[in-house]
Amino acid sequence: MILILLGAPGVGKGTQGELIAKEYGIPQISTGDILRKEVKEGSALGKEAKKYMDSGALVPDDVIVGMMENRIKEDDCKNGFILDGFPRTVAQAEALDVMLEKNGLKLDKVLLIDVPKDEIIDRLTGRRVCSKCGAVYHIKNNPPKRDGVCDKCGGELIQRSDDTKEVVENRLNVYEKSTMPLIEYYEKTKKLVKIDGLGDINEIFSKVKAVLG
Ligand code: AP5
Repeated sequence: MILILLGAPGVGKGTQGELIAKEYGIPQISTGDILRKEVKEGSALGKEAKKYMDSGALVPDDVIVGMMENRIKEDDCKNGFILDGFPRTVAQAEALDVMLEKNGLKLDKVLLIDVPKDEIIDRLTGRRVCSKCGAVYHIKNNPPKRDGVCDKCGGELIQRSDDTKEVVENRLNVYEKSTMPLIEYYEKTKKLVKIDGLGDINEIFSKVKAVLG
């Protein structure tokens, strides 16, 4: 199964992607996670990407497309994969079409998760992530057992630098301008399914499973 998770920042793409990956045994490929790892390691790609990520702007298409071309050829993608945060522009979607065709692959579904703006701001400003393993929490909706400590690995929980109110507003503007045109792009393929992302995490996951079968 090849799946795209589409939706504004903070709608729960990462959260649902992780659950889908476990249930269906296919990897979740998050461009945001890959870029953050590069930033942490201080690689050339990471240094370049950080300039854009800190303000909530998009990393240039050619950088992202090159990165994804290599990733989907890896062994763990043989039985399919979940794209979380890619594509994010029409140019990236067109590049993905070419990539899939070149590799004899076919896109199955695009899940568009929809959440109102006020809730998005609350979710993102309340999000905490593990500095060691990357696990995602929310101070109210999905809190860790011990304040500031990751349940999974004991690592310290931190706030992402792009989860401040100011940067979140910019990320939402960028989403509207650059990524929303993808809704029409994928509606034309008849592969787009809209999911109401309001409700608790397991409730949303039940809706996702009903769509994926
Ligand atoms: P990226 O990391 O992809 O960020 P994003 O798309 O903005 O998405 P988020 O990770 O913020 O949100 P999410 O939808 O995964 O929500 P989550 O599940 O965590 O990208 C970061 C940056 O990298 C970009 O700004 C850009 O610079 C660059 N980049 C990445 N991809 C790129 C690309 N293709 N092209 C160019 N640049 C790119 O949930 C959010 C919070 O809500 C969590 O705290 C969670 O616990 C909570 N939550 C989740 N579900 C629920 C629920 N149902 N109810 C209540 N709370 C919930």
